[in-house]
Amino acid sequence: MSTPIIFSGIQPTGRKHLGNFIGAVQQYVEGQDRGEPAIFCIVDLHAISVAYEPAELRECLYDTTAILLAAGLDPERCILFRQSDVREHTELTWLLSAVTSHGDLNRMHQFKDKSARQRELVSAALFFYPVLMASDVLAYRATEVPVGDDQRQHVELMREIGRRFNERFGETLVVPELKIPEVGARIMDLQEPERKMSTTGGTEAGTVYVLDEPGTIRKKLASAVTDSGREVVRGPDKAGITNLIDILAVARGVDQAEIELEFDGAGYGEFKKAVAEGVIELLAPVRERYAELRPDQAALETALAAGAEKARAIAAATLADVRHAMGIGPK
Ligand code: TRP
Repeated sequence: MSTPIIFSGIQPTGRKHLGNFIGAVQQYVEGQDRGEPAIFCIVDLHAISVAYEPAELRECLYDTTAILLAAGLDPERCILFRQSDVREHTELTWLLSAVTSHGDLNRMHQFKDKSARQRELVSAALFFYPVLMASDVLAYRATEVPVGDDQRQHVELMREIGRRFNERFGETLVVPELKIPEVGARIMDLQEPERKMSTTGGTEAGTVYVLDEPGTIRKKLASAVTDSGREVVRGPDKAGITNLIDILAVARGVDQAEIELEFDGAGYGEFKKAVAEGVIELLAPVRERYAELRPDQAALETALAAGAEKARAIAAATLADVRHAMGIGPK
């Protein structure tokens, strides 16, 4: 297979949890040496599609930037940038809206869910969210899009938009492939292990945040829901234990079977303690590095500006082709 061009977007929030970390952030870090280039975009323009506070948005953007750098993204080995710094995304959104079906946008699950949750205004931006997301990816002619399972429909739509554009205006854009991580996709809430760990839909006690102190992590794991059995094995009626096995396996970078073997005969209490220590070992270096990076906003801005410059060079070339193909602007 040829070298992939990887693109992913991440919402600006400082409350990244273990599911995000394993499902997205770690995939990014792994992807930065596989992608040529690997492009990671903090999507502040998507964030304004729901109610938000302007001052908070800016802080959250720095939080996310610092978390990504602390986790190991290296601006020398990838392109890390802020969506709004590259104006080509917004221009392409409008141009692509010409080949986006209104009916398709109307069928998006995320639009239905999020619009039902808005108290004041269901913005047109929320409806247009998937078109902006398509522009993010298509502007870089990316071949691979690593995202969580919840973004499947959005990626399907961007593929459809790319295909329709090429059919209508000639081969210009690349139709990207979806890539869903196997493990992180199923990190579950510690209190309600039938549902995914989530900032919006989960429980506070069942959600481990990347920036949680070790003491907090120990507490959350000690109170994790298990079952009335006593065996540390995976099983359909053992959602809690299965989740903890998955978590420890990922934290240590080993197979689940290895964890089951090691804790054969151990009690749930002992096992949960080991999971807590494993998670602490995974997250503590990130938290410590974050504490060093986050206060220096000027350095974060410098990193983002350098990323935007590299991103712009690629996106501008695509936009020139798109405009030309569509008959927009001078010949
Ligand atoms: N919608 C994605 C999410 O909420 C974030 C995102 C925005 C994205 N643009 C993207 C992901 C482009 C992949 C590619 O997770």
